[in-house]
Amino acid sequence: MSNYHIKHLEEYYQVYRKSVRNPEVFWEEIAEEHFVWRKRWNKVLDWDFSKPEIKWFEGAKLNITENCIDRHLRTKGDKTAILFEPNDPSEAAEHITYNQLYKRVNQFANVLKEQGIKKGDRVCIYLPMIPELAISVLACARIGAIHSVVFAGFSATALATRINDCDCKIVLTSDGSYRGAKTIDLKGIVDTALEQCPGVKTTLVAKRINSDISMKEGRDKWLQPLLDAASTECAPEIMDAEDPLFILYTSGSTGKPKGMVHTTGGYMVYTAYTFKNVFQYKENDIYWCTADIGWITGHSYIVYGPLANGATTVMFEGVPTYPDWGRFWEIVEKHKINQFYTAPTAIRALAKEKLDFVDKYDLSSLKVLGTVGEPINEEAWHWYNDNIGKKKSPIVDTWWQTETGGIMITPIPFATPTKPTYATLPFPGIQPALMDENGQEIKGNQVDGRLCIKFPWPAIARTIWGNHKRYRETYFSTFKNQYFTGDGALRDEVGYYRITGRVDDVIIVSGHNLGTAPIEDAINEHQAVAESAIVGFPHDIKGNALYGYVILKETGEGRDHDNLRKEINQIITERIGAIAKLDKIQFTNGLPKTRSGKIMRRILRKIACKDTGNLGDTSTLLNPEVVQEIMDNVL
Ligand code: PRX
Repeated sequence: MSNYHIKHLEEYYQVYRKSVRNPEVFWEEIAEEHFVWRKRWNKVLDWDFSKPEIKWFEGAKLNITENCIDRHLRTKGDKTAILFEPNDPSEAAEHITYNQLYKRVNQFANVLKEQGIKKGDRVCIYLPMIPELAISVLACARIGAIHSVVFAGFSATALATRINDCDCKIVLTSDGSYRGAKTIDLKGIVDTALEQCPGVKTTLVAKRINSDISMKEGRDKWLQPLLDAASTECAPEIMDAEDPLFILYTSGSTGKPKGMVHTTGGYMVYTAYTFKNVFQYKENDIYWCTADIGWITGHSYIVYGPLANGATTVMFEGVPTYPDWGRFWEIVEKHKINQFYTAPTAIRALAKEKLDFVDKYDLSSLKVLGTVGEPINEEAWHWYNDNIGKKKSPIVDTWWQTETGGIMITPIPFATPTKPTYATLPFPGIQPALMDENGQEIKGNQVDGRLCIKFPWPAIARTIWGNHKRYRETYFSTFKNQYFTGDGALRDEVGYYRITGRVDDVIIVSGHNLGTAPIEDAINEHQAVAESAIVGFPHDIKGNALYGYVILKETGEGRDHDNLRKEINQIITERIGAIAKLDKIQFTNGLPKTRSGKIMRRILRKIACKDTGNLGDTSTLLNPEVVQEIMDNVL
């Protein structure tokens, strides 16, 4: 018997030991007992981190939507699968039952087929948090098309890069979106992006804000009439366990964004099993994750993990500040939310407001609170624990990544005693290792190092779309035979992990991963800019904010600096998105460089953080004099 549902600490340790001692038996039991397969696997696991090649449940056949929808129809067809809470609280929430979801996904799947989309084709989804987003994701999975969801806050250029990188044939979008009191012209962004995307022949447009948009003859089609005319039956495409399910882009420290490829069988097993345990989901619970489906958190823990467990999952269209700072708690009361999963940046922002916004609402339905995306500081942890959880709902600080597909290090609520700022213990099946700079594993407790994982788990991304070499170099070449996460971590005296942050040039701003190189490239496009360097510095709400050092060309000298700052941020917004804007921009005559011409970011980071007591070794600098100049003018 598998231990699908872990309920206490002793059981966790027992299950964990089993998962390490015999991973294949462990995962095989879970896969066998809790999912429907059209054909069984020939082999549970085949792997080689040096290539790297990882295959789970090879030879097995399935369709993930049969697991997320069809199999629940007999016992819970009338249960709400997706509970849609609109941006405007006066608009009625929509309860989509499993029966309705089945029909709507099939209709959407049939529409995609009519548009010529087949198994293996890439479908770009650029939609706001409306039901069509979840439904289109599932519709792709129904017919074996590979979805590539692009967060609808990304700019036209960022969207075009992602469409072209994986050759999407079609884009699914809407006439616009609501975001608090604002509306956003999504279709306009798509139109601009598609000027650079010759491969896209069709766009399907959902109606959300009823704006007057232009539709390009022969390319743009309104979605709803097509759905209305489509059959509610669509036989699921039978997929291999290792067939790609989706591509999701994440920033790297250099180069263009990486299209992480997740496959079908292992991803399903892992996201479902983690969802069940990390949130202790029980039948009739109402679960709410506030992320956007445009991020991995939304893929795994709004759509696939919850639905594979037959759960009710809430999709929220709006923002925490609209119509006021009480919106999250109003929704908790209104829908009697049992599990609530959000990001530290949201908690920090909410904690700055008056407690009246919280105290007005009945939060007694809450049982488990989650956080994800960045380290949670002690103050925010306590605010969440005291005021939202009323000290009775355990906080699960879940550490994981786009690349890991599912939650990796986390407490199991009611089993693992929590400790503020600690993600605590590895989930069953996860074997973390801390490595030193010489590539040796650091054993024992009360140590810190670079966080690696030494054994594969079912939801690990299998490659980077179109660039397996980059996949190997980024994740498997720093430490031999280890998956390197890019994070630093410490292990305390009882073996709990605390993630200390990125050790590469990725900066996490408000929970969003941002690579420094693409932002610097955008800045350097400004005609007055000669060179730039970006670093992170601590920010009360965002966790980190971006600090830019910019050298101007001669043509830029004498220009109004405030204007230049605006123009630079405008370019960043156009190339990447508003999330990558800089909080501070310092103009300087030089950047500290090594003799080989590398920018010494370590020094720039210290200056931006106002931590200049010990700048470390500067003797290798080509131009040590610029350090003082930069320090004198720090913002
Ligand atoms: O640095 C870690 C941080 O977010 C990175 C992964 O970002 P992304 O791929 O966008 O996925 C975010 C959602 C899963 C990690 O390398 N991170 C994520 N969760 C935590 C975290 N840092 C500390 N504590 C966490 N709980």
